[in-house]
Amino acid sequence: MTERVRAQYEAYPYPPRDPRDEAKRLIEGSPSHLLEINHYVFGGRRDFRQPFRALVAGGGTGDGTIMLAQHLADRGGPAEIVYLDISAAARAIAEARAQQRKLTNIRFLTGSLLELPALGLGTFDYIDCCGVLHHLADPAGGLAILAAALNDDGGIGLMVYGALGRTGVYHLQAVLRALAADEPDAVRLDLARRLLKQLPPTNWFARNPFLQDHLKVGDAGLYDLLLHSQDRSYGVTELAELVTSAGLAITGLIEPWRYEPASYLSDGALLKRIAPLERIARAALAERLAGNLKVHICYAVKTARAATAVAQPQDPAMIPVLREGSGAETAGNLKPGGALTVRAEGVEARFALPRRAGPILARIDGHRSLADIHCDLAAGESGRFEWPAFAEEFERLFGVFNAVNKMFLSRDINS
Ligand SMILES: C[S@@+](CC[C@H](N)C(=O)[O-])C[C@H]1O[C@@H](n2cnc3c(N)ncnc32)[C@H](O)[C@@H]1O
Repeated sequence: MTERVRAQYEAYPYPPRDPRDEAKRLIEGSPSHLLEINHYVFGGRRDFRQPFRALVAGGGTGDGTIMLAQHLADRGGPAEIVYLDISAAARAIAEARAQQRKLTNIRFLTGSLLELPALGLGTFDYIDCCGVLHHLADPAGGLAILAAALNDDGGIGLMVYGALGRTGVYHLQAVLRALAADEPDAVRLDLARRLLKQLPPTNWFARNPFLQDHLKVGDAGLYDLLLHSQDRSYGVTELAELVTSAGLAITGLIEPWRYEPASYLSDGALLKRIAPLERIARAALAERLAGNLKVHICYAVKTARAATAVAQPQDPAMIPVLREGSGAETAGNLKPGGALTVRAEGVEARFALPRRAGPILARIDGHRSLADIHCDLAAGESGRFEWPAFAEEFERLFGVFNAVNKMFLSRDINS
């Protein structure tokens, strides 16, 4: 089966990328954005000017590798990113992208993550495994191998397919397998295209409007979605079990708001019963309510350190950092009425913001700590704005902006 998976990614490197596009833009996403890694793996305390080793297991055409390498190069530290993939064709594209950017902090290797113990690569501070485990015959075995290569204070960023959001995909995979499992790729792609044109309106794939992305990227996308030889998906509960089986614990699910039932419900009687549930149970409930999570992205660390891995907004020394844009711009874009509205795949959620959301945001510049921001605000209010009141407002603001994946915490301006 691995040979078949390898052959697929040799023929159709995924996702399709043109190295020349590196001159125009950096593709950033999750997992493995450096701000997220610091927040969910290192408690916001990692100084990336210090040596840092990362492994990108199943690096594909390079999205995660290039983002991580560029972020680390921008910090100027002595980082090494090891890229590993079974597809030489995918590696060639990833390597060309690195060359375009003149990145020198990546070591490219062709091979299977299952061979990691024999490769003698040492251990890593961080491992990215995005969209790969669900293509292994034994995902738990693969994750255990990755966990064994992780430093005790390190962490992993994972992406696996989400079962509910992919409703319809596996029906069509089964149909296409029944029609032509062993024909040449061109024949199977042709049959897949014909099938998509003929689906009755009641078909679950036809009824799932959120499964378009793969269909927009040509043969590679169509093959990945409907003709894959080895592909499974996970509910949140199964993902948590998978992570636990490797001695790890989930520290963050991205984006957090999509994993909170309160993002979808407002009835007090329902919310009262949901509130006491633990985080993963709430997340599983949110997944079932929303029904639209096509992938699950999470960070995980060794279980022993899970309680201290996530940065906390009560620490006055923490520096709030925005993923994009300046604090002043963000404050300026706030809608009257003090709420933030987000949308994702057919759902919309509205989050109330605290009274001083604008003034606090306007002071977030990636350098000032919470103590600095409080001091500045308190001075403007003749000292009548005490730390506990500020901390309460900031926590509410952070609760919203972190939930929508726009704000993180860090102890160092270089992290
Ligand atoms: C869907 S792509 C994802 C690529 C990349 N991680 C991303 O998110 O853009 C899956 C990649 O995993 C690689 N892969 C599959 N099984 C692997 C294995 N056992 N060891 C290393 N790479 C593997 C494939 O060759 C392919 O490039």
